[in-house]
Amino acid sequence: MKAVVARTKGAPVEVVTINVPDAGPGEAVVKVLSCGVCHTDLHYREGGINDDFPFLLGHEASGIVEAVGPDVTSVAVGDFVVLNWRAVCGECRACKRGEAQYCFATHNAKQKMTLADGPDAGTELSPALGIGAFAEKTLVAAGQCTKVDPSARPAAVGLLGCGVMAGIGAAINTGAITRGKSIAVIGCGGVGVAAIAGAALAGASPIIAVDIDAKKLEKAKSMGATHTVDSSKVDPVEEIKRICAETYEGAEGADVVVEAVGRPETWKQAFYARDLAGTVVLVGVPTPDMKVPDLPLIDVFGRGGALKSSWYGDCLPSRDFPMLVDLYRQGRLDLDAFVTEEIGIDDIEAAFERMHHGDVLRSVVVL
Ligand code: APR
Ligand code: ZN
Ligand code: ZN
Repeated sequence: MKAVVARTKGAPVEVVTINVPDAGPGEAVVKVLSCGVCHTDLHYREGGINDDFPFLLGHEASGIVEAVGPDVTSVAVGDFVVLNWRAVCGECRACKRGEAQYCFATHNAKQKMTLADGPDAGTELSPALGIGAFAEKTLVAAGQCTKVDPSARPAAVGLLGCGVMAGIGAAINTGAITRGKSIAVIGCGGVGVAAIAGAALAGASPIIAVDIDAKKLEKAKSMGATHTVDSSKVDPVEEIKRICAETYEGAEGADVVVEAVGRPETWKQAFYARDLAGTVVLVGVPTPDMKVPDLPLIDVFGRGGALKSSWYGDCLPSRDFPMLVDLYRQGRLDLDAFVTEEIGIDDIEAAFERMHHGDVLRSVVVL
C-alpha cells in the first residue's frame, strides 16, 4: 500500500510502501477515500508530539470498510465510515456512568502496520492519532469507524474526524450554546470557524468572530458570524461586551466564549469577555510552558460560571458524526466550505507550506 510517512524529525514526508496486516479481533481495515491535512500532522513531523518515528501521518479521514476482524459487529464490509481517534472502552468509570465521551481508556488497533521496502523494511509505524490515513488502506480499531450516510461527499465529511468536530463540539457540546445565547470565538482558523458554524446551527446570536487576520474574519462571516472584531486594532474584550449589550440589555459579555488559539493572552481575553455566570471553553491547545499570569482569584470566584476545556469537542462519534452528516446533507451545515482544495497523496509537503501562509482551511487528500 502507498502511504505517507515522516521518517525522521523535521525531514520532508515521503511516499513509501507499507504493509497493512489483516484485521484481527476488534479491528477493521479501511480503504481510505479522503484525509484532511491538519496542523497535528505537521507537529508529528516536527517531533512536537513525541519521538516514535516513523509516523504514518493523516487522521481526518473517511473510507470504506474493506475487512473486519472475526468478532466485529459494529461495522461491516462496505460501510462508508468517518474515522475517529478514540474507540471508547465501554468499561471504564466514564463509560459506565453513560459519559463515554470522557472515556480515558480509549484504544486503537493492536497490530502494527510496517514499512514494506528498503533497509528498514519491517519497522513498525506509529499512526498519527491512532489512525494513519494518508494511505490507500489503514488498520484501525473497529470502534474508530462510525458509519454515516454513503451519499455524503467523502472529502467534506471526513473532516468531522478532527478539527471540524473539535470546533463544533466546543460550541455545542462543551459550551452548550443554544438559541437565545451569545457567543464569541477567539481565533478563526479551521477550529474557530467550525465553532462559529456550530453556534449558527444552534441558533445563537450574536455570534462574534475575533481574529488578528482580516481574511480569517471574512471567512468567519461567511460561516455564520454576525459580527467580526479585529483584535489587532481594537480591544476585543470591550468590543464583545459592547456588541452583546446591544442585543441583550444588561449583558456584560458573551454567554459563551470559545478560545481557539491556545495562548494565555487570548484565554484571558475570553475570561474577561464572558458575561457573569458565563462559560469559557478552551479548545486551542497550549504548550506545556504556558501560564496565565496575574489572574486574581477573586475574579474567578466573583464572576461565577464555568471555565472548561474541550477535548475533541467532547464528541461521541457514534452520536455526533451521523447527526452532523445529516445536517450537512440537509444543507444546514456547510462542510464543503472547509475543503479549500482536493490534492493527491504526493502533495502533502506543499499543503504544509500553504498551511503556514494561512490561506487554506483544509487541503484534503483524495485517494
Ligand atoms: N488573537 C486572535 N486570533 C489569533 C491570535 C490572537 N492573538 N493569534 C492567532 N490567532 C488566529 C490566527 O490568525 C488563526 O486564524 O488564530 C487562528 C488559529 O488558526 P489555525 O492556526 O488555523 O489553527 P486551528 O487549526 O484552527 O487550531 C486552533 O485549536 O485544536 C487546536 O491545536 C489547535 O491550538 C490549535 C487551535
Ligand atoms: Zn487534526
Ligand atoms: Zn471507557
